[in-house]
Amino acid sequence: MSEHVILTEIVGRVGVIRVNRPEALNALNLAILHAVVEAAEAFQNDPNIMAIVITGNEKAFAAGADIKEMADKSYIEMHQSDWFSGWSRFTEIRLPMIAAVNGYALGGGCELAMMTDMIIAGPGTKFGQPEINLGVIPGMGGSQRLTRAIGKSKAMDMVLTGRMMDGEEAERAGLVARLVDDNNVFDTAMEIAQTIASKSRPVVMAAKEAVNTAFETSLSQGLLVERRAFHALFALEDQKEGMEAFSNKRKAEFKDR
Ligand code: HXC
Repeated sequence: MSEHVILTEIVGRVGVIRVNRPEALNALNLAILHAVVEAAEAFQNDPNIMAIVITGNEKAFAAGADIKEMADKSYIEMHQSDWFSGWSRFTEIRLPMIAAVNGYALGGGCELAMMTDMIIAGPGTKFGQPEINLGVIPGMGGSQRLTRAIGKSKAMDMVLTGRMMDGEEAERAGLVARLVDDNNVFDTAMEIAQTIASKSRPVVMAAKEAVNTAFETSLSQGLLVERRAFHALFALEDQKEGMEAFSNKRKAEFKDR
């Protein structure tokens, strides 16, 4: 068994979380849930970290929630422990998060990728919500986030048949932000994260919050949230710096933390 269920490192101003349970195709058990959430929160609490990349290995991002950990549970155990609710802490991370996805991203693996802010994948990546084959349905957000990402008809196709979708189809469907060679997935995610790391931390957080508001509210309320957040950014030194740098034809140096 892997000694460490996740591996973390800091590269420049980017925090990297690597799920490390290769013997089980990175099946997401409770130990991984706690480790991932704690690592992401620790990165967020470090003002020098600007973005998070989460990844697996070349065979699997994660082949699902751990089926063996759940198999014998009763309804009352699942209900009273509110199984999977712990992942909501991961979705509350305010830093941008990028999923670098190779190999299998099935069930909870696909759902974990969809909890991040964008997915980078290769043609060999395999996304799916195969829970129907196990006599259950998605439980970490698949029925909701996949439907918002790719629309009802295609989400129904995935959730009702349990079939897999390769990276090309996932990119066409809008699930994947950028499709790159399989062996370039992690490096591309890191490049995107480093690009974000050159921006203003509070502005990046405001941008993420504004886009996410589009999933939670009406258009008129969302537009108001966006406009008020936009106004508030004029309290930042980084706004002054960004606009002054533009006028003086130099690169902005953002410093607000
Ligand atoms: C626990 C898993 C696992 C999982 C793989 N393994 N996926 N263990 N939970 N989700 C384990 C296998 O039991 C096996 O352990 C080892 O990893 C290697 O897997 P193999 O099946 O031997 O590999 P392969 O033949 O290459 O097939 C790959 C695969 C297959 C097609 C991805 O492993 C598979 O179908 N996995 C399950 C995919 C799935 O249904 N995911 C959704 C889970 S439910 P041993 O000890 O035998 O070597 C979910 C949503 C939860 O995520 C919400 C409601 C329940």
